[in-house]
Amino acid sequence: MILPIVGYGHPVLRQETEEIAEDYPTKELIKNMFETMYNASGVGLAAPQVALAIRVFIVDGSPFADMEDITKEESKELESFKKVFINPIILEEKGEEWAFEEGCLSIPGVNADVIRKETVVIEYYDENWVLKEETYSGLAARIIQHEYDHIEGVLFPDLVSPLKKKFLSKKLTKISNGKIDPAYKMKFSKRVR
Ligand code: NI
Repeated sequence: MILPIVGYGHPVLRQETEEIAEDYPTKELIKNMFETMYNASGVGLAAPQVALAIRVFIVDGSPFADMEDITKEESKELESFKKVFINPIILEEKGEEWAFEEGCLSIPGVNADVIRKETVVIEYYDENWVLKEETYSGLAARIIQHEYDHIEGVLFPDLVSPLKKKFLSKKLTKISNGKIDPAYKMKFSKRVR
């Protein structure tokens, strides 16, 4: 089932999230989240974006596999980078900082360079409740960092320079007011026409 994606300005995107227990009906949720993400051509989706204040996100980095400027190894890694992260904790972020132009399914039509560290070490449960600790770099790390921010109530415009944020503010207000025509089903906190 395709779920509506919550737009920028909706309070659930800023709400504190809770860990889930093993009896949470994740099967249905994960299926719906993947369907919702693919329908919107995204590479990641976090539970708050479908109005659930819980610590779950999904990724599928395969659309990034044919990006220019990446190595064959990174391309191969991204090809199979389809994962579910339940109750994740970022243990460490390290490496050089680099800029990459990010976007977000909750903020359609808005893109900006965000500076993040190259490598991330993350502990999480997978969809079978197996505890994992893994290290990712490059674009895979980037997707994880962006989605992890969502469950921490952080959105990428929070991380851009004040000048850039000012430049984006009109567009962000439009989205908050639902004054956009997204290519997929969305839900806004208010709809001002
Ligand atoms: Ni996002």
